[in-house]
Amino acid sequence: VILTVTLNAALDVTYEVERLVVEESNRVRSVAQRAGGKGVNVARVLAALGHDVTATGLAGGATGGLIRADLRAAGIAEELVEIAGESRRTVAVVPDSGSGATLLNEPGPRVSALEWERFGGRFAELAAGAAAVVLSGSLPRGLAPDAYAVLVTGARAAGAWVVLDADGAALRGGVPAGPDVVKPNHAELAAATGIADLGAACAALRDGGARAVVASLGAAGLAADTEEGRWKVGPPVAVAGNPTGAGDAAVAALVAGHVSGRSWPERLAEAVAVSAAAARAPLAGDLDRATYAAVRDRIRVIPWRDA
Ligand SMILES: Nc1ncnc2c1ncn2[C@@H]1O[C@H](COP(=O)(O)OP(=O)(O)OP(=O)(O)O)[C@@H](O)[C@H]1O
Ligand SMILES: [Mg+2]
Repeated sequence: VILTVTLNAALDVTYEVERLVVEESNRVRSVAQRAGGKGVNVARVLAALGHDVTATGLAGGATGGLIRADLRAAGIAEELVEIAGESRRTVAVVPDSGSGATLLNEPGPRVSALEWERFGGRFAELAAGAAAVVLSGSLPRGLAPDAYAVLVTGARAAGAWVVLDADGAALRGGVPAGPDVVKPNHAELAAATGIADLGAACAALRDGGARAVVASLGAAGLAADTEEGRWKVGPPVAVAGNPTGAGDAAVAALVAGHVSGRSWPERLAEAVAVSAAAARAPLAGDLDRATYAAVRDRIRVIPWRDA
């Protein structure tokens, strides 16, 4: 089984409006809501790819209940640990025109030291049965920046392959514990290292402890610096759609490739195809199968030599 961790799980609410006018009263035409947060998106993609996945993390209150119910309805095993605080919502206001959505992201609850300790106990049990562990997204208030280091260390000790997809202090705090892969996008990589050059920034994270760095470059694809080699991998064409969550889909495909025993170049090609399919689908965590089929055999994996 693959374990995904979402410490700041959310209920993603989408409001469809004809158009959004700020500082006016706006009529909402339809409301959709479903479980979200980056680890939840990864779990959805893994389930869609046919993998056995369990979603853990922290959730609380009535919103936490809705998150759990939606995961179960989606057929995803849910092992979220209950906290006292109310889980957050993210609200996306989407106009008919298809032009940009307006996002309102709640900060989410504060987690107590006792709740973090209880989570650690449950995490250790779940990680012991997992082939791979995915740690995704921001840390909730109340957790120290080394929270991901604690989980990376625990998961590796349990024999799991660990992917960390975080940014800022949460990423920097997790790298020294030696995750098998970190997957920042270019902006996150530059911010975490203070280095603008892609190759030098990847090298810095590897020097800092990451065993492999897969940097995502939006429509340009992926650049990977691993123990087996360095590659750049891109889609044949950029697709139009909703790139939010494309990075989560890339992470899901990398993990799926690892547990299926694929080589790095194969994992990377699959990640580019799956993430293009995710960028084409309107909702984060969903895949557009036609896009996957159209691009899968046309992905170019090229050795990355400069730097
Ligand atoms: N327009 C696009 N066309 C084709 N593929 C895309 C497009 N946008 C993104 N991708 C694919 O998705 C991958 C991840 O995208 P991106 O670099 O935007 O991740 P991200 O910023 O981490 O996203 P998120 O955190 O919202 O999931 C890219 O490496 C690329 O393979
Ligand atoms: Mg991302």
